[in-house]
Amino acid sequence: MSIKTATLNGVATIEIARPEKKNALTGAMYRAMADALDAAKADAAVRAVLITGQPGIFTSGNDIEDFARRQPGTESPALQLMRALMACDKPVVAAVTGAAIGIGTTLLLHCDFVYVSDEARLAMPFVGLGLVPEFASSLIVPQLMGNVRAAEKLLLGDPFTGADAVECGIANAVLPAGEVVNHARRIAERFNALPPGAVRDSKTLMRRARAQLALETIAAEGEVFGNRLRSPEAQEAFSAFFQKRKPDFSKF
Ligand code: COA
Repeated sequence: MSIKTATLNGVATIEIARPEKKNALTGAMYRAMADALDAAKADAAVRAVLITGQPGIFTSGNDIEDFARRQPGTESPALQLMRALMACDKPVVAAVTGAAIGIGTTLLLHCDFVYVSDEARLAMPFVGLGLVPEFASSLIVPQLMGNVRAAEKLLLGDPFTGADAVECGIANAVLPAGEVVNHARRIAERFNALPPGAVRDSKTLMRRARAQLALETIAAEGEVFGNRLRSPEAQEAFSAFFQKRKPDFSKF
């Protein structure tokens, strides 16, 4: 079982649990997370959603073997998760228990509250994999922090700390590793005492101005991303990852 779900005290928890592969996300895992978000949205007893990982690792991002195997023209399985996340009108709280790489950071841009362990590192290393930013990160990251800091994170793929994430507006707070999940859960449980209709309408209003542009950006990114997955640059990057060596882009 690599996605665990449970609902307790008004909070639907989605736990990524594939520690042997550093919580890398497969198609089946994306689908399980999307289904859990849809179920949480439909369940009146759920007032908020909590997404979390394992001690030391939130997620190492998309399973790179899945990337390498993706057939041309097939829809990204991650898109199902991101659509469900963007359509979720209940508050979504992320407890970033450790490294959050690729979509591990991108999905945080679509959560409402983000708490990061003091041991966590975040990164969006798409360019180094011969790919491009996805799921509206090419729009939201420059909006949040300006072009020059976005370039460090999206063009160079530099990793950054939880404190940087707070400073850039990606996260609310950094917490000691042993406290991050409980803190995030306490924030999620606060919605049990708030009127759910007003919360839902307010969240929808807060996202209204950006919603259409985000969807258009996701479509544009998705087209380029799909082409880049089959590029010689990406193939070199994937081979290098599995051969545990540095990629060589000198021939391109
Ligand atoms: N996809 C597939 N397998 C992955 C993976 C991923 N995204 N991330 C880690 N794994 C696998 C490794 O291949 C390794 O498998 P093995 O034991 O069969 O060799 C196992 O998980 C442990 O990973 P390892 O790299 O040995 O752990 P580490 O503690 O040294 O490093 C990370 C952890 C997360 C920093 C490192 O695994 C990493 O950089 N992963 C890739 C991140 C990435 O580029 N994601 C895609 C973003 S678009």
